[in-house]
Amino acid sequence: MFSKAIELIKNSKNIAVLTGAGISVASGIPDFRSPGGLWDRFDPFEYAHIDSFTNDPYKVWKMLKEMNNLVAKAQPNYTHIALKELENLGKKVTIITQNIDSLHSRAGSSNVYEYHGVWDKLLCIKCNRRDNMTNFPLDSVPICPICNFPYKPEIVFFGEPIDPDISNNSLYSVKNSDIFMVIGTSAQVYPAASLPQIAHSYSKPIIEINLETTPITHSLSTIYLKGKSEEIMKQIIDKIR
Ligand code: APR
Repeated sequence: MFSKAIELIKNSKNIAVLTGAGISVASGIPDFRSPGGLWDRFDPFEYAHIDSFTNDPYKVWKMLKEMNNLVAKAQPNYTHIALKELENLGKKVTIITQNIDSLHSRAGSSNVYEYHGVWDKLLCIKCNRRDNMTNFPLDSVPICPICNFPYKPEIVFFGEPIDPDISNNSLYSVKNSDIFMVIGTSAQVYPAASLPQIAHSYSKPIIEINLETTPITHSLSTIYLKGKSEEIMKQIIDKIR
């Protein structure tokens, strides 16, 4: 399995990659659905739906403050670095990330689609004023000075659409890839979870890296590499170099 994955990566020029929360666990941000994760403690439909934010932003900010503490301190880990390294080795790598921590960009990757938005930008849903999270103390609820209403991080809440440009560009990169890698995602939140199905329908080989099997492992993935992505990506880069 591992040597077949190496061969596929070596022979590819265009690599599209879907990443999820599992790849940032080594950066100190627990994933959502594993025991102890954010959705283990906060019901996502109560705390991460856009209607919840509109109705009671202060309640939702109880969860967002926890996220802020984690994201503010995080640094890229070897999975982020390895994906940049693939670029340095001459591959065109397009990353579609469900993560809002900006760690791919901070690791230097050139083509990153932030499918679920980014954490550090803020939007007032009343007057559309924009701001930056870094303008506010870490433990505060950032408030729009015009409306006196809490800002919303520019992340995609449940019930909100994906930015159409990001969605279209992501589709385009999957269709134009030689292989599709799916790393550290439970592959169950749509529409991101439809990307492996689309890759499969275009007969793209799919390399999945995850600690555990997911709904795509036995149906769509060509190769499943079980383990921590930061360790497996290190082995991959060492072999390709
Ligand atoms: N290496 C590889 N995989 C890992 C690692 C690791 N070190 N640690 C955890 N995983 C795997 C878990 O086994 C799990 O399958 O990462 C996956 C994380 O899944 P989720 O917590 O569901 O995160 P994700 O798939 O990114 O969630 C998608 O759901 O709540 C929304 O918007 C949120 O973007 C998020 C989306």
